Amino acid sequence: MTPARNQRVLLASRPEGLPRPDNFRIVEEPCPVPADGQLLLEILYLSLDPYMRGRMDDAKSYAEPVALGAVMEGGTVARVIASRHAQYAVGDIVLSHSGWQRYALSDGLGLRKLDPSVAPPSTALGVLGMPGFTAWAGLLQIGRPRAGETVVVAAASGAVGSAVGQIASIQGARAVGIAGGPDKCAFVRDELGFDAVVDHRAPDFAQQLASACPQGIDVYFENVGGKVWDAVFPLLNDFARVPVCGLIAQYNALPQAAPGVDRLALLMRDVLTKSLNIRGFIQREFAELRPAFLQEAQGWVGDGRLRYREHIVEGLDKAPAAFIDLLQGRNFGKLIVKLTQ
Ligand SMILES: NC(=O)c1ccc[n+]([C@@H]2O[C@H](COP(=O)([O-])OP(=O)(O)OC[C@H]3O[C@@H](n4cnc5c(N)ncnc54)[C@H](OP(=O)(O)O)[C@@H]3O)[C@@H](O)[C@H]2O)c1
Repeated sequence: MTPARNQRVLLASRPEGLPRPDNFRIVEEPCPVPADGQLLLEILYLSLDPYMRGRMDDAKSYAEPVALGAVMEGGTVARVIASRHAQYAVGDIVLSHSGWQRYALSDGLGLRKLDPSVAPPSTALGVLGMPGFTAWAGLLQIGRPRAGETVVVAAASGAVGSAVGQIASIQGARAVGIAGGPDKCAFVRDELGFDAVVDHRAPDFAQQLASACPQGIDVYFENVGGKVWDAVFPLLNDFARVPVCGLIAQYNALPQAAPGVDRLALLMRDVLTKSLNIRGFIQREFAELRPAFLQEAQGWVGDGRLRYREHIVEGLDKAPAAFIDLLQGRNFGKLIVKLTQ
């Protein structure tokens, strides 16, 4: 039976700097009813990801912004609860991109059926989903670590960073993580098995990072930017590779030049003299490799070489606050909102 009401989180206004709760509006609306060729999805899990901050701005970027008054965008795991589509039956569990809402219509385009006997469905939003794929593709296609090399990654307890370090270890490289606070650092070292970890909040962070990388850095997987990049940059070896995946420390910065000395000339000098390869990417550029990723990553998760941690928040109404927390490093693991009991 189709539920009577839908709950949705809309973009109410565009944030200046860090988003605030009033940039979002939670509304109740009649639940949509599927027409011929459509199905109705009940969202079970909603993924919260740093890229959503960019969608809240109307600045030019690699993807269109969310329109004011529109439902916030996001990856979801959902159950089919009504189907007028030949390829989907009631009860199917699917990966969809239905956004911040409890129910959504779909015409089946872009859906992927999930088999809960292979892996918990929520992993399709994390270690076996977009973040895991980002780590795998960015590290192996751009970073190309070799056995014995030093790979450094920040936000190392998070969805992308945790996978980067573990995949680097699987390749025989030495994995060094950077994380915020003692609990995250202990998790990265003791649970994920990184060779070393450094707390970016430590007053002597740059010296600690240098000590943790006595042979310099061959691959730096950039998730953060800001002062972490400042500490990494002098340690890069000749021919170092830098997949630039994210710059979360800068996402809430207002669009103006940062104060301080302009070090662009210094950067360009090292790019030249150290033959650095600094290469940005958006994961979808490697879309044709997703089946290969899934096969390899499912094997690693199955044999325990690729571990993951989920940070589950219950209730769609908690999504705005959880997202604001994510942008300040208050999540611990892949941030997911669980919508049903
Ligand atoms: N290029 C792509 O296609 C692509 C795809 C997916 C994700 N990404 C990027 O990958 C990065 C990681 O994403 P994720 O989903 O794995 O998120 P995440 O690591 O689960 O969460 C974000 C983490 O970033 C750290 N952080 C937040 N604010 C920070 C600040 N001001 N300075 C330093 N660290 C800060 C925090 O970790 P600590 O407390 O440990 O510092 C926080 O837990 C993000 O930059 C994201 O935009 C890019």
